[in-house]
Amino acid sequence: MEKYTFTYTIYSGGEDTPGDVMTLVKTAAKAREGAYAPYSEFLVGAAIEMKDGTIHTGNNQENAAYPSGLCAERVALFHASAVCGDKKIKRIAIVGGPRDSVESSPAAPCGACRQSILEYEERQGEPIEVVFAGVGLSPIYSVHSVKDLLPFSFGRENLEG
Ligand code: THU
Repeated sequence: MEKYTFTYTIYSGGEDTPGDVMTLVKTAAKAREGAYAPYSEFLVGAAIEMKDGTIHTGNNQENAAYPSGLCAERVALFHASAVCGDKKIKRIAIVGGPRDSVESSPAAPCGACRQSILEYEERQGEPIEVVFAGVGLSPIYSVHSVKDLLPFSFGRENLEG
């Protein structure tokens, strides 16, 4: 029997929270306000901090043909990749919750978004910190690398056999 363990940090959203993490979480919360989510009424914002300090945001974009919509994380990631090319990503922050709630549980990225973050992590060869919170911005969860959320991940090396 093998055992898989991973480490994560829980910040309160107060004094114990690093300033750059808190700033990015607040940016994600602001981006969440622009989500287009008339069907689920679940609004998600994402903010990406590049290693050079620039920030890119996204929010979920839904569609009457439900599967045609896209999660906030992928809107932000694909936009960042489209405009920044192979510049490196430092961290991504995600804030999600029902439209009118003031308190909600931390919105961890869905499986497809974890896979998409992994793609860019492998592309840059350096970990991407993933930070996520509910709308109250407390608590805030953080993992050092998306691989911590994806045991036995499928990545580019699998395609090489
Ligand atoms: N959603 C995201 O934007 N990110 C996730 O990681 C999970 C779910 C969106 C998709 C859909 O618009 C709404 O939240 C409800 O699932």
